[in-house]
Amino acid sequence: MPMILAANANAQGSHVGEWRHPDAWDRPAANIGNAVRLARIAEAGKFDLLFLADGNGVRNMDKPDLFAATSPSDRPGVFEPVTLLSALAMVTTHIGLVATATTTCDEPYHVARRFASLDHISGGRAGWNLVTTSNPGDALNFNHDAHVPREQRYGRAMEFATVVKGLWDSWADDAFPQDRASGRFLDPARVRALNHKGAHFTVAGPMNAPRPVQGHPVIFNAGQSEAGRELSAAHADCVFAIEGTIGRAKLLYADLRARLARHGRQPDDLKILSGVTICAAETDGDAEALMRDLDALVPDAVALDYLAKMTGMRVPGLAPDQPMPAPAEEHLGPTGIGKAIVAMAQSEGLTVRQTARRILPQMAGNMIVGSARRVADVTEEWYRGGACDGFMIAAPVAPTGLERFIRLVVPELRRRGLVRADYAGTTLRENLGLTRPSNRHFA
Ligand SMILES: Cc1cc2nc3c(=O)[nH]c(=O)nc-3n(C[C@H](O)[C@H](O)[C@H](O)COP(=O)(O)O)c2cc1C
Repeated sequence: MPMILAANANAQGSHVGEWRHPDAWDRPAANIGNAVRLARIAEAGKFDLLFLADGNGVRNMDKPDLFAATSPSDRPGVFEPVTLLSALAMVTTHIGLVATATTTCDEPYHVARRFASLDHISGGRAGWNLVTTSNPGDALNFNHDAHVPREQRYGRAMEFATVVKGLWDSWADDAFPQDRASGRFLDPARVRALNHKGAHFTVAGPMNAPRPVQGHPVIFNAGQSEAGRELSAAHADCVFAIEGTIGRAKLLYADLRARLARHGRQPDDLKILSGVTICAAETDGDAEALMRDLDALVPDAVALDYLAKMTGMRVPGLAPDQPMPAPAEEHLGPTGIGKAIVAMAQSEGLTVRQTARRILPQMAGNMIVGSARRVADVTEEWYRGGACDGFMIAAPVAPTGLERFIRLVVPELRRRGLVRADYAGTTLRENLGLTRPSNRHFA
């Protein structure tokens, strides 16, 4: 199985300062032209998929410097992701289209129907990034006074995923003969109501869409906590991992795969993509210079606010030049990412300010800056070393970073036999080497 390549399709790129760079998209807020161009670039480079992270709240209004500058994961001016991917499906033919939807603030019927539609519209290229919502403020838009505690979120997520898959199985693959001669639009023997009643949901079904082209759109998940890992083992086809060192990534990889057997699954049923920022250029020096240019576009006040956001820590109470401390308590935000940042800072002996500046490329610890050879060396080591099955790549500056990766790095990866020269199939499952799930009701 070749190395999987996923592109972060965030309109604002990935580095906190990059939207200000002269090479960046002009006016990236809700810009459909940019999105179309990025999808075409990634598909021409034979990327397996485009990924859109998402949330449902406007963030950081309590951090004025960061709020005004925004960071890529704030997304204050973006499209609803499935709506955007439906449009991108019409201008692409092979690339996978993966959108985030939350189990904490949505209903399983809505999610099942939306992704079934995207799967039909795209000819089998849809993926659902299942999140329980990392941003506490999102829940305030959905009848909550505070973020839902992690345990409750993951309990609901487990049942949510079961219901979604059940709804996708409502109809047999051949349930819609649409036969003019006999007058049978559908075959009444080939549909089943779900009749689900559980702790969180009561859903009768069946769903009013034919079974998705892929059977089930590909399910992604990025939980790092114990509950998040169990959810991945039970329901995910792909996991976005975020570990800053190859040692930690190997442990996570082995841990996730070892959990599958308890859920009646094979090790190859779960693909693990490591999140990484890759800044590639003609020479190591050119790439390093670009990163310095980007860092210079972020004032200290914005960088320190950004550290507070990413770790959930009260950074204003810390001296910028003191060593980076551990978080005082478990909090409800993206702790997997926060923990990875703190672990990286402590292992490298960074100060608070150095940590803040170190994470400006957004993807926490793992970052590769350099020539094609340097990028290929590191990604090859991770891939062949059992740390991941591929990479979720952010490439500053959007779109020139992705173009450089494709022009410089992809040929080198191909020479080393790590990535394929063309798509293996037409569906995302085929391209990721995942089997098409059988229907629980119809053999
Ligand atoms: C690559 C990557 C992408 C993520 N995308 C989102 C997202 O779009 N929306 C969201 O709410 N959380 C997102 N998260 C956060 C995870 O859903 C999760 O909350 C986080 O990794 C912490 O894990 P835990 O929930 O098990 O504590 C992402 C995490 C990673 C590593």
